[in-house]
Amino acid sequence: MEPNPDAASSDAASSDVERSEAVLSEAELSAAAGARPRVFSGVQPSGDLHLGTYLGALRQWALHQDERDNIFCVVDLHALTVPEDVDPRTLRAKSREVAALYLASGIDPETNIVFVQSHVREHTELTWLLNCTTPLGWLYRMTQFKSKSEGRESVSTGLLDYPVLQAADILLYDTDVVPVGEDQVQHVELTRDIAQRFNHLFGEVFRLPKAVVPKSGARVMGFDDPEVKMSKSYARVRDRHAVHLLDDDARIKKTVMSAVTDSGRELRFEHAGPGVRNLLGILQSLTDEPMDAVQARFEGKGYGDLKKAVLEAILETLRPIRARYREYAADPAELDAVLARGADRAREQAARTVARARSALGVGT
Ligand code: TYM
Repeated sequence: MEPNPDAASSDAASSDVERSEAVLSEAELSAAAGARPRVFSGVQPSGDLHLGTYLGALRQWALHQDERDNIFCVVDLHALTVPEDVDPRTLRAKSREVAALYLASGIDPETNIVFVQSHVREHTELTWLLNCTTPLGWLYRMTQFKSKSEGRESVSTGLLDYPVLQAADILLYDTDVVPVGEDQVQHVELTRDIAQRFNHLFGEVFRLPKAVVPKSGARVMGFDDPEVKMSKSYARVRDRHAVHLLDDDARIKKTVMSAVTDSGRELRFEHAGPGVRNLLGILQSLTDEPMDAVQARFEGKGYGDLKKAVLEAILETLRPIRARYREYAADPAELDAVLARGADRAREQAARTVARARSALGVGT
């Protein structure tokens, strides 16, 4: 089984994120005066998207789409870094599935740019230019690299280089903010370091981005084990680990009702363990209710009541997403047209940034 990048304590991870200079909360970003921020974010089309991906990323993108200039990318080149897991036909189908889930989650393809990373070649070109100014030591330090390479006999160069491709994604579009879950903050910090080093060596070419993480939902934990982050790799081998966005109602019910909570039968918030806190966080995130109100509703009640409320909130959210997904999936020509338009719009901007970087480095015509 692939090791999970998030075996570490969630509390330690959260406080690191809160302290990071590279992170803004949604509230800080909304309060910041000035022009509409430019947003870039993406999801890797490997495995099935789950509730963590939705709450940490897609839901936030959709909620704030009207306040920002957004580029949402399906990052298929990132899904190539473990070649043993690549099945070309599945990858192509998954890229479409993820794009359709963006739209089904409410992202408007007219006002936002939605595209697939490999359709815009500038991503790979800028990766090379950034590779040459990125010290290897920075890449060896990445938590995700350490956990994903652990125990493998052979590791691709791409797995190590993965965060440089991510930096290229972000820097190509003069991005101000990158809305992500907590686990991606380290990569955004590295993106800033890479940009700063390049700018220092070759002149001001890149804008420095910040990550923005939601107050709740930035780190959804596994239903079967609330000590580890909900992840696609665990979900592949553990039946009750995650709720996937395209699961049917019966399966969602099984997963949520079997969630690990605490010993004891009644909810006491001052003693709530990670399983209960995870369920409360999911509920808060799905209903947008303040945590006090959510807690007041369940204080002294049984865990079964809390699980039922979480189940209802999940079903209410995912049913319409599933229905819209089916409509997009039934019309592949329309989806392809959306993605082709998105790639054209993205390419125009990406080409300008690559031209700046080439000229600063003395390559190209
Ligand atoms: P990926 O595909 O692993 O995850 C996509 C987004 O979902 C968030 N997420 C979670 N949030 C809360 N709780 C969870 N359990 C959870 N699991 C996943 C992730 O934080 C992420 O925001 N390297 C990136 C993809 C990427 C990217 C980019 C993102 C490539 N280039 C440029 C932003 C900008 C990744 O693998 O995400």
